[in-house]
Amino acid sequence: MKYDVKNMDLAEQGKLKIEWAEKQMDVLRNIREDFSNKKPLKGTKLAACLHVTAETANLMITLKAGGAEVALTASNPLSTQDDVAASLVKHHEIPVFAVKGEDNKTYYSHIHSALEIKPDITMDDGADLVSMIHSQKQDLLKNILGGTEETTTGVIRLKAMAKDKALKYPIIAVNNAMTKHFFDNRYGTGQSTIDGILRSTNILLAGKNVVVCGYGWCGKGVAMRSHGMGANVIITEVDSIRALEAVMDGYRVMPMAEAARIGDVFITVTGDKTVISLEHIQAMKPGAILCNSGHFNVEIDTDGLKKKAKSSRQIRDFVVEYTLDKGHFIYLLGEGRLINLAAAEGHPAIVMDMSFANQALAALHIKNNHKEMEKIVYDVPEKIDREIALLKLKSMGIHIDTLTEEQSNYLNSWKEGT
Ligand code: ADE
Repeated sequence: MKYDVKNMDLAEQGKLKIEWAEKQMDVLRNIREDFSNKKPLKGTKLAACLHVTAETANLMITLKAGGAEVALTASNPLSTQDDVAASLVKHHEIPVFAVKGEDNKTYYSHIHSALEIKPDITMDDGADLVSMIHSQKQDLLKNILGGTEETTTGVIRLKAMAKDKALKYPIIAVNNAMTKHFFDNRYGTGQSTIDGILRSTNILLAGKNVVVCGYGWCGKGVAMRSHGMGANVIITEVDSIRALEAVMDGYRVMPMAEAARIGDVFITVTGDKTVISLEHIQAMKPGAILCNSGHFNVEIDTDGLKKKAKSSRQIRDFVVEYTLDKGHFIYLLGEGRLINLAAAEGHPAIVMDMSFANQALAALHIKNNHKEMEKIVYDVPEKIDREIALLKLKSMGIHIDTLTEEQSNYLNSWKEGT
């Protein structure tokens, strides 16, 4: 079996990490049991480009238990947990191509290696598999039944492809499931972003001006958790509705140029480019800390910062100090890549459980329904979404009411009033 991981000696440590995550992934375990019995993915080859974490390992093991042949490559050069990658190879015979800190060239060569499986289904976090297949590996298109996409950024890219009629197979937008973005994006990114900042810097957030750029589901989570730790939260937004929501949630809202002058910590979660420009960086207070939790490392103008800096030094793991003019220094965390995965361990298993339950069931949905699917981006069927929510509640020992017949009739009728 071909693979490329950092060090196979780390496998035992990775095995324990995978087990620890598994214990918190009840819904996925439930699906795994069912998959093991019925093998519904038998004969399916699946290439996945996801963050190589303990949670992803549990998804890969589940897909394999369902009869699929899988290959895994990283969806970011800095997010791989090397011990987990080694354990997947050693204990589960799953080919993994991922090394934490790999350069861009290796990153793309790993994507090529994972595609050697000639997949029937692709599973993306950021649409790099789809993009590589459509641009350089079109010969693979004839086998492909469909794909899934994990994240907002990927869904945006794929919808743009579908709009241009450039998308050559159907995609299910796992990100758009309610049991994904309400929880993973808000509570997962919210907590793990703060975790990454604290692990890398050990700063006190209380009393700091924390600028959160973007008030989507991830931004909401980051703002909520920063506020909870005593920070004065400032939001920057371009969307008027979201900006208004942030105001009414109790945050200060202002343009980036203004926030740049007063922020102590800046966190980008917009999914867009150059949200923090060199001009903004030059206006910042000495000692300002910059980081990103959006999918790609394009939100902060790191190239501009590097070019402008008189000198730089790595001062802690994942912290580089850049000296600008006249002793003006700025700290960049995790090279401007996803700080929650670079310096911490990503979202906790309890939320990834629902995201990856959606992934597993979306893959099965493609296998069973691809003939009726068009070359567009689909949402996860609501039936699957609601089933996952119910299973999650059950695993938490929480029961809820159901509508009585009278209530159900009332909701379906337009005849009753006061
Ligand atoms: N994205 C964010 N957190 C993650 C995790 N723990 N595993 C896989 N993908 C993630």
